[in-house]
Amino acid sequence: MSKKHDYDVLIIGSGAAGLSLALRLPESTRIAVVSKRELKEGNTLYAQGGISAVLDEADSMESHIQDTLEAGADLCEEEIVKLVVEHGPQNIRWLLNQGVEFTQQPPTGSSGYHLTREGGHSHRRVVHAADATGRVVELSLEDQARRHANIDLLEYHIAIDLVCTPRNDGSRARRCHGAYLLDLKKDQVRTMGARCVVLATGGSNKVYLYTSNPDVATGDGIAMGWRAGCRVANMEFIQFHPTCLYHPDAKSFLISEAVRGEGGKLVLPDGRRFMDDYDPRGELAPRDIVARAIDNEMKKHGLDNVFLDISHRDADFIRSHFPTIYSRCLELGMDITREPIPVVPAAHYTCGGLWTDSRARTDILGLYAVGETAYTGLHGANRMASNSLLECLVFSELAAKDIAGQLRQQDEPLPSLPPWDESRVTDSDEEVVVAHNWDELRRFMWDYVGIVRRNKRLARARRRINLLQHEIREYYSNFRVTNDLLELRNLADVAELIILSAQLRRESRGLHFNKDFPWRDDSQRRPTILIPDNYVPRDK
Ligand code: FAD
Ligand code: SIN
Repeated sequence: MSKKHDYDVLIIGSGAAGLSLALRLPESTRIAVVSKRELKEGNTLYAQGGISAVLDEADSMESHIQDTLEAGADLCEEEIVKLVVEHGPQNIRWLLNQGVEFTQQPPTGSSGYHLTREGGHSHRRVVHAADATGRVVELSLEDQARRHANIDLLEYHIAIDLVCTPRNDGSRARRCHGAYLLDLKKDQVRTMGARCVVLATGGSNKVYLYTSNPDVATGDGIAMGWRAGCRVANMEFIQFHPTCLYHPDAKSFLISEAVRGEGGKLVLPDGRRFMDDYDPRGELAPRDIVARAIDNEMKKHGLDNVFLDISHRDADFIRSHFPTIYSRCLELGMDITREPIPVVPAAHYTCGGLWTDSRARTDILGLYAVGETAYTGLHGANRMASNSLLECLVFSELAAKDIAGQLRQQDEPLPSLPPWDESRVTDSDEEVVVAHNWDELRRFMWDYVGIVRRNKRLARARRRINLLQHEIREYYSNFRVTNDLLELRNLADVAELIILSAQLRRESRGLHFNKDFPWRDDSQRRPTILIPDNYVPRDK
């Protein structure tokens, strides 16, 4: 017997992508936003540098497009770059309307805002809220979402898998009808039906031992979409941010690229600069170049870290532009107005993800993906700084339009969905296995699939991941699901996708550097698209 959908739209993830989509849907839409921790937790909350958009009269769309294409090492989809850049200014205005306050003083250029500069940008075009842009954006969106009666916010609910069934139109195409969710407080699984489902679960950088990302970044949406039958693209392009704080008591703390944008220099322990030896743009070269240069200097000199020095700038300027970084470093006993900051590269951003079209639609009817979970074609082989929040905003706008159109069409009845089956599982008494596998995975991904890759190491990583996946599957089918087990299963699936994609690209381009193929080979200038066994092309 068919029942009514619980919601019109189920949005899995409450970062910039998920919340802005929820806020852009018509008020008549019944929406659930689910989040596996408290609503604000996710990569968005920690974003520092800002959001790129053409806001200054001296800047131009053409220049932003060209910089993005160049940073993307000739692998961006030009039409998508154009689409995103051209939608930039209106999305900044939309954020202002949501109550986001950007830094105004002292303004640079004609925009009225202080625009900072980051790697790869040939103009100052990054609008920001001091060095805590993500926090200001996330909290403003959360505040707005809490005022909307049509949006239900379900915290501490982790999506396990999507519920997709074949369409009853004779085609093999499938439609997504909802998801299984584990309520982490009640420890109960519920099946939630919705007319449209959106994956906005962020990136997957917890797959690496060292990362700038918070714990929630375990690639759940990419793994769920892949298991459901969606293609994924460009997973070999993991961005390593050049400058994460290196300190035993600091977990995942970023030192924004804006510090380099405002004159910060990368130096060795003896104070010598090295970036000019690698690129004429020095510290403001795109991230792939800077991260590899640091990695090379650390290996060459046997160093644990290099240093980022901004102490030559005026102390008041540093304190007012980088208050978060200044106070975090001070808590750890470092005064950045006087001394250099120890830094190392760490996994930061997932350029690939679930393949989506220019309306954020995935390969499965009724299923969308937005934000870091999606591959849109914007970033190519390397994301330019501050283009990510922009992508979240623009694609949430485009997805909202498409979903609103879908919802206006006649409501298909919800077929009866397979209930969650726990009849053959028991509670685990071996959770240590999950913790152990989690550590092992993150360590071998760092060692074998990191900034510099080799064929032999990729092959070794592939053998390891296949073994781990086998163990995890067995564990998954025998024991009741927990948050840690679900995240581990997703991390393992995503790790496999990264390794497979890295093996398929037999050249070096952008963020993917393989010492056995150290050159760029333009006969391979195409995205790496992985197709799951259960993939069925969508007809409309
Ligand atoms: P997130 O903000 O990561 O949100 C993901 C959401 O999904 C979370 O709510 C999470 O709880 C939820 N979720 C995940 N899995 C599940 C599940 N299974 N079930 C339920 N919920 C789930 N980009 C810029 O453009 N400018 C910057 O200055 C910048 N600085 C950055 C600094 C740091 C330290 C980091 C880590 C990233 C930075 N980035 C920056 C990148 C940018 O912040 C992210 O790409 C962007 O915020 C991603 O937004 P999102 O909405 O896709 O995902
Ligand atoms: C930063 O502030 O350095 C992060 C910017 C980004 O990841 O886009």
